Amino acid sequence: FPGNVGDNSALAELVKSWARAFNVYNLEGVEAVVAAAEEEQSPAILQIHPGALKQGGIPLVACCISAAEQASVPITVHFDHGTSKHDLVEALELGFDSVMVDGSHLSFTENVSYTKFVAFFAHSKGVLVEAELGRLSGTEDDLTVEDYEARLTDVKQAQEFIDETGIDALAVCIGNVHGKYPASGPNLRLDLLKDLYALSSKKGVLLVLHGASGLPKELIKECIEHGVRKFNVNTEVRKAYMDSLSNSKKDLVHVMASAKEAMKAVIAEKMHLFGSAGKA
Ligand code: 13P
Ligand code: G3H
Ligand code: ZN
Ligand code: NA
Repeated sequence: FPGNVGDNSALAELVKSWARAFNVYNLEGVEAVVAAAEEEQSPAILQIHPGALKQGGIPLVACCISAAEQASVPITVHFDHGTSKHDLVEALELGFDSVMVDGSHLSFTENVSYTKFVAFFAHSKGVLVEAELGRLSGTEDDLTVEDYEARLTDVKQAQEFIDETGIDALAVCIGNVHGKYPASGPNLRLDLLKDLYALSSKKGVLLVLHGASGLPKELIKECIEHGVRKFNVNTEVRKAYMDSLSNSKKDLVHVMASAKEAMKAVIAEKMHLFGSAGKA
């Protein structure tokens, strides 16, 4: 993928190694992603959410950067859901390889200017930019059909958004949600994804799917066929961590080791489902 990176070959290399992203919160999380990536020979992205950054601070970022540097497979470090300029400026100073400029809470015009502004500074530092158009719904949202449709990514707006902002990756809203999907299962608008892919591939922009926890195998396969190149997984890895606590002995080192193993198993399985295993 050339991306919107022009002649910058270092950035172009980064785009190539860009793959599937796992949210991390602590050392065990970082180790779980790196161990799974090395065993499965998969590229991976260590992703830090602003909430996780608030908890883990600079040591968490330093841990990710150093683990990525020492890994035997391509691993990069990404700042997830940057909803404020303040957070993104900090992320650019801390040395992330890529950032998500999340202006999905803003109006279209405000989202364009916010994303364009941050993308300019990020690109000048050699940092890749993901941005979101549309608005992800929460599982518990009791939306009317009209409200649901209004939150989906609009193809015409996507064209203008990509052209105006110069982003490298677009996070799409096609019915995907953070956290759990309803009991009836995910209802993804693959027709819309297809149209967005037709557009993004012409522009050299990667498609990103947030809320990948809870997607069945067949649907993941269809999303890959329709151009998704970065899947974000948070909830299922967090759940594996928490579930492992009830099975482990009440000893710190044992708790850490079993949490790491539990997360690693989920991550390795996702690397196979997402088709990144064996691609390092
Ligand atoms: P899940 O919570 O569904 O795993 O989504 C993760 C995500 O999109 C992080 O940005
Ligand atoms: O974008 C994901 C955030 O880390 C929140 O994730 O829905 O699992 O709490 P969550
Ligand atoms: Zn997300
Ligand atoms: Na999800």
